[in-house]
Amino acid sequence: MSVQPAATGLDLERVDGRAKVLGLAPYAYEHPAENPTYLYPVQSTIARGRITAIDTAAAETMDGVVAVLTHLNAPRLANAADKELAVLQSDEVGFRGQFVAAVVADSPEAAREAAARVRVQYHQEPHHAALRADHEDLYKPEQINAGLETDTQAGDPDAALASAAVVVDRTYTTPAEHNNPMEPHTTVAQWEGDRLLVFDSTQAVHNARKTLAPLFDVEVEQIRVVAPHVGGGFGSKGLPHAHVVLTALAAKVTGGRPVKYALTRQQMFFLAGYRTPTIQRLQLGASPDGRISVLTHDVVEQTSAIKEFAEQTAGISRMMYSADHRRTTHRLASLDVPVPSWMRAPGECPGSFGLEVAMDELAEACGIDPIELRVRNEPAIDPETGKPFASRHLLACLREGARRFGWERRNAQPGTVLVDGWRTGIGVAASTYPARRQPANTARIRFTGEGFYEVQIGAVDLGTGAWTALTQIAAEALECGPEQVRLQIGDTDLPVATVAGGSTGTASWGSAIIGAAQMFRKEHGGFPSAEDTSEGDGERNPAGKNYALHSFGAQFAEVQVHADSGEIRVSRMLGVYSAGRIINPRTARSQFLGGMTMGIGMALHEQSVMDERFGMIVNHDFAEYHVPSHADIRQLEAFWLEEVDEHAGPLGARGIGEIGIVGAAAAVANAAYNATGIRVRDLPLTADKFL
Ligand code: MOS
Repeated sequence: MSVQPAATGLDLERVDGRAKVLGLAPYAYEHPAENPTYLYPVQSTIARGRITAIDTAAAETMDGVVAVLTHLNAPRLANAADKELAVLQSDEVGFRGQFVAAVVADSPEAAREAAARVRVQYHQEPHHAALRADHEDLYKPEQINAGLETDTQAGDPDAALASAAVVVDRTYTTPAEHNNPMEPHTTVAQWEGDRLLVFDSTQAVHNARKTLAPLFDVEVEQIRVVAPHVGGGFGSKGLPHAHVVLTALAAKVTGGRPVKYALTRQQMFFLAGYRTPTIQRLQLGASPDGRISVLTHDVVEQTSAIKEFAEQTAGISRMMYSADHRRTTHRLASLDVPVPSWMRAPGECPGSFGLEVAMDELAEACGIDPIELRVRNEPAIDPETGKPFASRHLLACLREGARRFGWERRNAQPGTVLVDGWRTGIGVAASTYPARRQPANTARIRFTGEGFYEVQIGAVDLGTGAWTALTQIAAEALECGPEQVRLQIGDTDLPVATVAGGSTGTASWGSAIIGAAQMFRKEHGGFPSAEDTSEGDGERNPAGKNYALHSFGAQFAEVQVHADSGEIRVSRMLGVYSAGRIINPRTARSQFLGGMTMGIGMALHEQSVMDERFGMIVNHDFAEYHVPSHADIRQLEAFWLEEVDEHAGPLGARGIGEIGIVGAAAAVANAAYNATGIRVRDLPLTADKFL
């Protein structure tokens, strides 16, 4: 077998691209199912209380209805501890939009019509559905916080603030936002005896079955979850939500017929996770020349009373800039609202809005350039852990971005450039995201005898390009061409792999594939025979424990605000990233641009509006919840530094899925300030805020 040039770094087209454009790539709902049934749910119309009566008679007698499930007749789950997942297990209602019943029928139309005929009576109890800074009585006393510290402190921040020459003390808010992948959350479930087959739109097939197994009192091996192609998730498909359990539960009462359920766009706003709103107070104290002595970041955010989800909003302020005195706190209000969850760069994304706008305010207060301010506060080591950074190229990103973007043309005096009725300005923000690698990934490699290697790993491509990147990684490790690699992913029948999330997928799965390739070459040498097979994992190449591993980036935005109407447009945006080795420039660029696009959505459009009287998210569809359209995205460019992070494992890659959105909204807000002299501290930046 000839030695091929390294397959990573190649600008390879998506290996799954042709199947996708031809409509041959099956998504969850499209898998063939024999004699299927269809599910349509009934959702609660109160935010908190109890179901006192359910009348299902009119639904049950409809033609085509197979079953009507309520908490009174639904099969019992073996474990109801997770109240998001314990569907139809009690009469309690914890938020508006929660599942209170479900119809299974021969057609989707019959299911929907029958669901509309189910009558539910409630005993309503008082509820709290809006996040406010003065809701101390609703704060949870303890938080799990994803294994990270709830609060941190170093030095004496209050004393340092009292003696600082320049102080910025501001509060910033970000609204609830919904992930809204193009493919809705979808589950097709079928029981064959005590074995469950699930086609699911998920970011993690193995995690999904691990979550389901104890609920249904079966071993994980009795459940198979399949997800070869996923139409986006942005974190909302990282953890199984209630619909997965509901569909599998309903499949228990159909006599073995499969149950198909795709959430409607409107249902997704209540049942599939969202980004918590945040209230962030930032205090920065500095010397007149902009050297920061104290940095505090105090956050209030929300979770659902039925389940804790804590966002790490202030985490970014623990490592981003140098300051002797520092404090971060998180307070979590427990409200009668849907359960928040992961949304692209959970923590860093909203946290960077507060921190990076505050930095812009400090630069102005000190009268120095915003890039120079960041140069002056660049830490030598990670301020939080004291570890050296494996690679910290923030300043290189800022300088390269400034050069490409034309930063020197920025007018430091805000509100001075008016062209054809449009006020124009430019702004910058820094970006970062941690490089984490998940343990417990295994890959299997089998030589077919016809020159092909089957490479198997239970990873998932949620639309990011994992099919392609993992093919390239395998080809390089096996020293063959990408066309000789037959990758198999998206199935729990394949070796254990972790979630496509947290920007960990490529590095985590790739390490396992490299481990398996090393094992294969050791066991079978350079001239394998048919059926030669090896398994390996990523454990043999651990990432550098003694280093702080983070990616960095610089976001630049040019914004136009109409002087009369307040209409705001992002006319240009440019990002430069340092993310370790880039496996495929084509898919990487798409990831960065996708993150920036979502950042523009966060800056200008996205806002889930809670009517607290009813606990209702009122703008729960695309008519009223706005995401960027083509007309909103004008000139967008992404660049990266050529580098290999030797501490980030055998690939030298740190992950690119989330960093494109971090800091993006702050760059837009800072540019809008430069354009208008109006400082907007509450997202999104709608026209009314500039009038
Ligand atoms: Mo990402 S929010 O971990 O899919």
